Amino acid sequence: VRHRIAAVPADGVGTEVVAAGRRVLDALAERSGGAFALDWTELDWGSDHYARTGLMMPEDGLETLRGFDAIYFGAVGWPTVPDHVSLWGLRLKVCQGFDQWANVRPVTFYPGVTSPLRKADDTELDWVVVRENSEGEYAGFGGQNFGAREGTGQVAVQSAVFTETGCERIIRFAFDLARTRSRAKVSSVTKSNAQQYGMVLWDQVFAAVAADYPDVETESVLVDAMSAKFVLRPEDLSVVVASNLQADILSDLGSALAGSLGLASSANLNPEGRFPSMFEPVHGSAPDIAGQGVANPVGAIESGALMLEHLGLPEAARTLHAAVERTLADGVMTRDVGGTASTDEVVEAIVARLGG
Ligand code: NAI
Ligand code: MG
Repeated sequence: VRHRIAAVPADGVGTEVVAAGRRVLDALAERSGGAFALDWTELDWGSDHYARTGLMMPEDGLETLRGFDAIYFGAVGWPTVPDHVSLWGLRLKVCQGFDQWANVRPVTFYPGVTSPLRKADDTELDWVVVRENSEGEYAGFGGQNFGAREGTGQVAVQSAVFTETGCERIIRFAFDLARTRSRAKVSSVTKSNAQQYGMVLWDQVFAAVAADYPDVETESVLVDAMSAKFVLRPEDLSVVVASNLQADILSDLGSALAGSLGLASSANLNPEGRFPSMFEPVHGSAPDIAGQGVANPVGAIESGALMLEHLGLPEAARTLHAAVERTLADGVMTRDVGGTASTDEVVEAIVARLGG
């Protein structure tokens, strides 16, 4: 089976880790003996495109992407373009334009990687952050220049939008995911004591949906307490579902606790399959290390594994994940996780371990 994939490396280390991921995925496809193949189309969108055209992606960019089976994305952001322009001009445009309302971000602990959490008792840690990806704090609702009030200077308003439908679909998604895991538990995160409209609606929907899943354990935790819990009682977590902003923050925390932001993978899913889904590392374009050949490719490569799963290739996804685990366990890793290997050396080591 041939799968048509759009690669959008975009900016900074995004270009390095997407190239790395493509090499590993192609090697895996080659070894599949024709079981599957990936047809890549690379799109040169991002901050350079912006410098040339004034747009992060062409006007008809979504039309171009629509025909693909999946999108393999790097990262946006470069000091020459304001961050809100690059993010809204490309990544958020795709997520929202294709109704990729479920952002799945596994927090994976790898053998051989030192985590600030893992103590001598070697408790198995493994949880997943499910992020509402279509509305909430990133609904883009608000404005500037509401006028100055006495003593305030300019006033800007940034509102969060929560719809019952939006809350219900992401919460159901989290419960369905929990049922597939060894511990069927969903932790719902809000700040509904302080934000008394949208987040209270979320809590109400959570309670209603939970009633349909009596077999799944639940808890509701305020986001400040949850950030402490990530550090202090992570063994108590399985699926953590939260709003767009809160889950964004919690997933960076989770990946740092697992050892590095460079390890974390994610899937932006349109679960109905009406539009292509997008797979990308959690990290950004890392201008501080871009161009040096030292970016950790694991987050992007594992995002490739999530893409394979989505394409109906769970066996290939497992093979890829196992090769990544063995590589790290063998001590081949980039400097963000304490190693000395370059991006290329990690890629070669993973490819060499694809055979089992
Ligand atoms: P960042 O994730 O790019 O970097 C944060 C820290 O993690 C840096 O010290 C960086 O060197 C390190 N890091 C990130 N990826 C790494 C990797 N693969 N290997 C080793 N170390 C890695 O976040 P930052 O610095 O806040 O943002 C940089 C740019 O990226 C900004 O323009 C921001 O808007 C953008 N950004 C884009 C995202 C996306 O496209 N999904 C997500 C987050 C930020
Ligand atoms: Mg983030």
